[in-house]
Amino acid sequence: MLELQDYQDFSIKNWYETFKHVSLKTIIVDLPDQLLKKIQCNEISDHSEDETENSEGEADIEKDLSGFLEQFNNALNTLNKAVFVKNNWHAPLDARMFSFGNILKALDLDDVMLYFTNSIVIQKDFANAKNAPFCIALRQWISIHPASEFRCIVVNNILRGITPRDWPAYYAHFKDDGPQIIEGLSNFYNVNIKLKFFRKSFIFDVVFQYPDAPIIVDFGPLNSKTNLYAFTWKEIQPLISKEVPEDVAPVFRYLESDIGIIEKDK
Ligand SMILES: Nc1ncnc2c1ncn2[C@@H]1O[C@H](COP(=O)(O)OP(=O)(O)OP(=O)(O)O)[C@@H](O)[C@H]1O
Ligand SMILES: [Mg+2]
Repeated sequence: MLELQDYQDFSIKNWYETFKHVSLKTIIVDLPDQLLKKIQCNEISDHSEDETENSEGEADIEKDLSGFLEQFNNALNTLNKAVFVKNNWHAPLDARMFSFGNILKALDLDDVMLYFTNSIVIQKDFANAKNAPFCIALRQWISIHPASEFRCIVVNNILRGITPRDWPAYYAHFKDDGPQIIEGLSNFYNVNIKLKFFRKSFIFDVVFQYPDAPIIVDFGPLNSKTNLYAFTWKEIQPLISKEVPEDVAPVFRYLESDIGIIEKDK
């Protein structure tokens, strides 16, 4: 769970404008109270059964939501009619089994409502982030190779750690490509992120399909609850109170051997 200040700092509404030139194309639409209530009540709409009973109520809702629906549909069209959706902070990853092919692609508002109403992660955010202006962030859908997703750990404005997000998974090319990954992400951080974010210590996620430039997927807090994948909080925490030279290189930690294969060969 995020702390109250985290909800403020890490809301995509807060950081997207500054970083949009290096992030996934996103359109942010405010979430109307009516839809928020629907999500919080965990009402999963079943059109076939309550059509007659609810027709008047639904018509009213449609009228009130007409501004929102127009924005939502325009956004969807701008993003080629297929999007990845998040609230201000999270994707409904725990509801991915409700999506075709488990990939959380949304083609219309019904898809978004289905994912949001079935996601405990999303429900918790809406319950805990008091008085936040909630939103639906519609993001351009991209096909991402899991080996190209990295989480970068920034401590006191210095990039200290890089970990694959697909962890623990073995990718043979990390050994040879390691220096390129470190250099690419260090340069990217120094040019585009350093001193431009609200915090001195935080994590950011990227898709880096080199030789293409990295793309920012998300920012998040750095604390004991953060998933650091290849790193542990125990080893990162002491870095916070340690002075280091500005030019210290980040550590790229990855799985160095395929343990499964070694065991099979035995
Ligand atoms: N625009 C996109 N198109 C397709 N897949 C995406 C897109 N954005 C994210 N994903 C996939 O969904 C995963 C989760 O996305 P993201 O990191 O934005 O969610 P999150 O809720 O912030 O996760 P966490 O809680 O780990 O920070 C990514 O690792 C990626 O595989
Ligand atoms: Mg995140």
